[in-house]
Amino acid sequence: MPETTPTGLTRLAFGGDYNPEQWPESVWQEDVRLMREAGVTMVSVGIFSWALLEPTHGVYDFGWLDRLLDLLHENGVRVDLGTSTVAPPVWFYREHPEALPVTPAGVRYEFGSRAAICHSNADYRAAAADITTRLAERYADHPALAMWHVHNEYGVPVSACYCDSCTAHFRRWLESTYGTVDSVNEAWGTAFWGQRYTDFEQINPPRATPTVGNPAQALDYKRFADATMRENFVMERDILHRLSPGIPVTTNFMTALSQCDSVDYWAWGREVDIVTNDHYLITDGRRTHVNLAMAADLTRSVAGGAPWLLLEHSTSGINWQARNPAKAPGQMARNSLGHVARGSDGAMFFQWRQSRRGAEKFHSAMVPHGGTDTRVWREVVELGASLDSLSTVRGTRTQGDVAVLWDWHSWWAQNLAWRPSEDHDPRERADAFYEALYDRHLTVDFAHPEADLSRYPLVVVPALYLMTEAAGRNVTAYVENGGTLVVSFFSGIVDEHDAVHEGAYPGPLRDVLGLTIEEFSPLLQGQLARITGPDGSELAGDVWTEFVVPRGAETVWTYADGLTAGHPAVTRNRLGEGTAWYVSTRLGAEGLDALLGWAVEDARIAPHVDLPRDVELVRRTGESGTYLFAINHTASDAKVPLEAHGTELLTGERAAGRIEVPAGAVRVVRLDG
Ligand code: GAL
Repeated sequence: MPETTPTGLTRLAFGGDYNPEQWPESVWQEDVRLMREAGVTMVSVGIFSWALLEPTHGVYDFGWLDRLLDLLHENGVRVDLGTSTVAPPVWFYREHPEALPVTPAGVRYEFGSRAAICHSNADYRAAAADITTRLAERYADHPALAMWHVHNEYGVPVSACYCDSCTAHFRRWLESTYGTVDSVNEAWGTAFWGQRYTDFEQINPPRATPTVGNPAQALDYKRFADATMRENFVMERDILHRLSPGIPVTTNFMTALSQCDSVDYWAWGREVDIVTNDHYLITDGRRTHVNLAMAADLTRSVAGGAPWLLLEHSTSGINWQARNPAKAPGQMARNSLGHVARGSDGAMFFQWRQSRRGAEKFHSAMVPHGGTDTRVWREVVELGASLDSLSTVRGTRTQGDVAVLWDWHSWWAQNLAWRPSEDHDPRERADAFYEALYDRHLTVDFAHPEADLSRYPLVVVPALYLMTEAAGRNVTAYVENGGTLVVSFFSGIVDEHDAVHEGAYPGPLRDVLGLTIEEFSPLLQGQLARITGPDGSELAGDVWTEFVVPRGAETVWTYADGLTAGHPAVTRNRLGEGTAWYVSTRLGAEGLDALLGWAVEDARIAPHVDLPRDVELVRRTGESGTYLFAINHTASDAKVPLEAHGTELLTGERAAGRIEVPAGAVRVVRLDG
């Protein structure tokens, strides 16, 4: 059995992507000296090195990598070794130009960037298997080897290819999924617009069409492309397991970025030995630490609650957004420790030394262009010391207080064209509900809609357009058995083939919510729907309204005007031992807070300590104890009450009754007992 933590690592992982091939070997000596100074415990090596390892077809040069791994080992740095298969060399493409991916409009990409790969291409698969085999044979027993890093961020930047190899592969995939072409016709509803097929050989990928193509075909192509990338991961993983037994294999995820919406991480989480994730702050004016917390919670959930590892984030600014602000003093540590609080057994970066050339030279790094007499470097060294003092946190687990249902397949389906309103963005609803829960200091687990929900007092469904009958039965049983459910609009509409469920909306949620919806009535941009609460209070929703007909549910808030005037905006249904809430419009922060306030009461979740919303409190628990992480994102000092005495690990101070967390600082208390 492969291990599920990096082999030989006894402390938290701290380090980054290390690309020393960009520098003369003389710099390597300085690198390892600085790594020791900063307390680096692990680096990721060789992710993009195929062109150096195999400079021409069949000619290999492992000498530099031998020297590098030896040097790292002599300096006590563990190695996460890349298989380099995300960056095939130019000779490979000159021999196999058809391995370059093709867009839906039929344009073939060129060599000269990275990750330009058609994952159906047999020559790519063979070449990837070859370099992986050679790396595994050579380094399986190297004492520095801690973990294998397959490829890099599958699905980014190319999520699907539409070439002829993919066409043939897709037809085989359809045949094994559906058996007969008539089953495909049925699932895709090809009776519509005369799209009926009589042979698998007639079916193509959803290439560019004059107007909207078949949505079920597009949805299946997402599934096919995801499965195809996973086949290639599994192929490399199995080679590594066979030749390098015991060493864990990972590939770095990007769970919460909409750029990587092409990968079903629930499925990928089951294939890797360790879940690893990359996270970058999206600076769109919102609170970046909330998005970070969400990504970390989602990653932990994909890992089934087990410890995971943050394999990449940034020390300061990145370089691929329109505007890339630097991080404020202390922000890097808050970010790194925020991930650790939510289950990461370490904090790694892209990258160790900032590049002077190439596309990412303006991306921050652990060793910046300015060298070691810089704030970034001083903060890196400080973070290394902090992580060292948190070593015993390793292996402990963060547990969620509530669950949010999340399904990439639903997201894929909902983002297809021609929906009632393009202003309804499922990701926006997930963010908004997450933020409302975060502001109540509740730790969120994400759960697949068919997962066991019984341990959660509260389950929130922010946007689940695609929902199977099984998922409907799951949430219904959850409520009958005493759970509290909150469902937001346009959920439970279609089945796994994007076909609208039989009967009135919302098919599999009708019983649990105690209502039907006769019609959707999206609002125009800027239009508001006034809604009136039980005590006469008023709120507004936007984007969406519905003609909801209660069938057992009580109406709590009502539309006060507009087409849906008099219809329920928010309902509550008692079923069995539990309660299900439904909201049919897009509530702002105030409305969501009110709604969740009631739901939290129904769920009998004890109110959390009275703290400013930006003082983040998360716990990790395990054999070595319980750790309370308090992260102060505000500009004022905060006092956090403690339920037990303990030791603050970053300062070594004893703590009783409460702990002071200075503005912008992090404190981690190991509770006694
Ligand atoms: C990641 C990628 C790294 C680097 C980084 C920059 O997505 O894995 O190689 O490009 O972004 O932010």
